[in-house]
Amino acid sequence: MSVVESSHPLVKHKISLLRDHNISVKAFRELAKEISMLLTVEATQYLPLENTPITCWSGEISAPILADKQPTLVPILRAGLGMLEGSLAILPCAKISVVGIQRNEETLQPESYYENIIADITSRTAIIIDPMLATGGTALATIDLLKSSGCKHIIALFLVAAPEGIALIKNAHPEVRLIIGAVDEKLNEQGYILPGLGDAGDKIFGTL
Ligand code: URA
Repeated sequence: MSVVESSHPLVKHKISLLRDHNISVKAFRELAKEISMLLTVEATQYLPLENTPITCWSGEISAPILADKQPTLVPILRAGLGMLEGSLAILPCAKISVVGIQRNEETLQPESYYENIIADITSRTAIIIDPMLATGGTALATIDLLKSSGCKHIIALFLVAAPEGIALIKNAHPEVRLIIGAVDEKLNEQGYILPGLGDAGDKIFGTL
């Protein structure tokens, strides 16, 4: 697996702005969108191309076109929806597969409560989008679900990640590529990332 922490100065700058304790809902949404665009560019830089005949103004040419079907974006409810607009700005034709995962209060294990995965998932790259990779339990359950649906190629994008979550995914699914805006220090006892962003879902939805 490869874990890529973006080194793009704009990603670093915008994540620092996201950390401001007094940030407005509007500013948080706009920055989450902009960072998602930049991370989606990084995530798609290895998509294969194939030369395809094209009738151009000057005649017939062979030009590079994406070889495979467009990836499917996989927002994890609910915070992942805050990255959808930005990712779609880069992949406007992407189909969307929505996943909802919550913790079973008896087993304490993450379980899917909603899944709507596109029918031809076997022939598309899945790009999971979720602002925070904390313990990694939700991301792990989503990857398991995508794989059991036949998905063969998975990339996951996070604005901020904790080393604990990265290690969990790395051990369980070493072939999944993680593209991360910032790798932070650690988790606190409540499973929040430090220094982190706080509750990203609340900040995107204004439910503070
Ligand atoms: N989810 C969040 O929104 N923030 C964290 O720090 C961890 C999980």
